[in-house]
Order: sequence, then structure tokens, then C-alpha cells
Amino acid sequence: MSAETHSAAHWDDVYAHGDTTRSWFQDQPHSSLRLFDAAGVSPHDGVIDVGGGASTLVDALLARRFTDITVLDISAAGMRYAQQRLGPDAQRVQWLATDVLSWRPLRTYQVWHDRAVFHFVTASRAQQQYLQTLHAATTPHAVAVFGCFAPDGPEQCSGLPVARYNAEGLASKLGQGWTLITHDRQEHTTPGGVVQPFTWAAFQRQT
Ligand SMILES: C[S@@+](CC[C@H](N)C(=O)[O-])C[C@H]1O[C@@H](n2cnc3c(N)ncnc32)[C@H](O)[C@@H]1O
Repeated sequence: MSAETHSAAHWDDVYAHGDTTRSWFQDQPHSSLRLFDAAGVSPHDGVIDVGGGASTLVDALLARRFTDITVLDISAAGMRYAQQRLGPDAQRVQWLATDVLSWRPLRTYQVWHDRAVFHFVTASRAQQQYLQTLHAATTPHAVAVFGCFAPDGPEQCSGLPVARYNAEGLASKLGQGWTLITHDRQEHTTPGGVVQPFTWAAFQRQT
């Protein structure tokens, strides 16, 4: 992975073409909410949506009366769509414009959510950095929910190569400190009508 392909400028350029036309756009974050429910996530939990961008997950969590929501993304332009959509409610959310791979968290969260971000982290050193940050940013017994391209999913997205996972592959990446709670498969349909298989998995941190 080069610094350039994961630069803020790359992602700002991608978002310059809009948010609802991006291949990953979804009206409702059904899979995320299903896994949150299966993992027993509650509105009292502090949640961070890593690489949340313009995602509608934040809208759904506010509607469910979550009070401690953080969205982190390398692209301020991506998050701006969500902020504008939410209007005054955007002030009820913490927004962090930073690279998750160099981020040093100042607090911990009970819930880590990543839809279609970890799969861009393909180099083993960067994966280690990501996993160290996941550990530093979460509480003991935290829940981590991942949505990644499935083994039969696309080989790249937004001009970048991706790693593809089944639930066992994700579990093996996270290591023994995380227990797989539940997983399923989603066939996401892009705004252009292309079907993209995703693996969804929820994990609980052991200690
Ligand atoms: C495929 S999009 C998914 C967006 C969002 N999770 C969703 O489901 O709508 C990938 C997102 O990850 C962000 N991203 C990519 N690399 C990142 C990094 N190193 N740190 C933080 N965000 C990153 C991009 O800006 C983009 O918003």
C-alpha cells in the first residue's frame, strides 16, 4: 500500500463525483444494524464508524437515540455529505478527519464499525497498524463489526486493490483476542446495478 493511494486527496477526488452515486452507497445500513443487534450493541455504547465517510449509519444510530457517535474518515469531503444531510444533528456527532492508520486515539469505544475500509488495507504492515489501533481504541469486551468484500467480491474498488474475506479469514486477521459472534453474507447492489457480495462479521474482544 502506498501513502498516495490512501491519501485524503484520492478519496476527496472520489467524493467530488457525489455520494449517492458511489458504488458503496446504500440508503439504509441494514447489515450493520442487524449485526449490532445480534451482538447486543446498545444506544448507551460509544460507537466509532471507521471510514464512515458519507454513510447513513450515523443517521440510523441517531434515530435509535445513540448519544456517543464518532465518525472517522480520511476524507473530510466524504463526511461533509453526512454533515450537510444531518443539518443541526451533525453537532450530536464527533467527526475526525484523519487516517485510521496513523491515528492515535485519545479515548476508547465499546463499538468499532468498519464497512468497506479494512479491505483496502492490503499490506501486512499496514494491517498490523490497523489492528493495533483497533486495540488501542476499544474497551475490553468491545464489539467490532466488519463488512468486507467476500471471496467472490470485486478485486478492486475506487481504483484500489482490495483483500477479500470470508468470516474465518477475518477472524484469523483479528487474532485470538477477538471472538467471532456471528456472520452473514450480503449481496450489495450498487447504484449502477452491479451486485457485490460482502462478508459481514461481528466480533467481541475477549479482554
Ligand atoms: C468504500 S468507502 C465506504 C464508506 C462507508 N464506510 C460506507 O459504508 O458508506 C471507503 C471509505 O474509507 C475511507 N478511507 C479510506 N482509507 C482510509 C483511511 N486510511 N483512514 C480513514 N478512512 C479511510 C474513504 O474516504 C471512504 O469514505
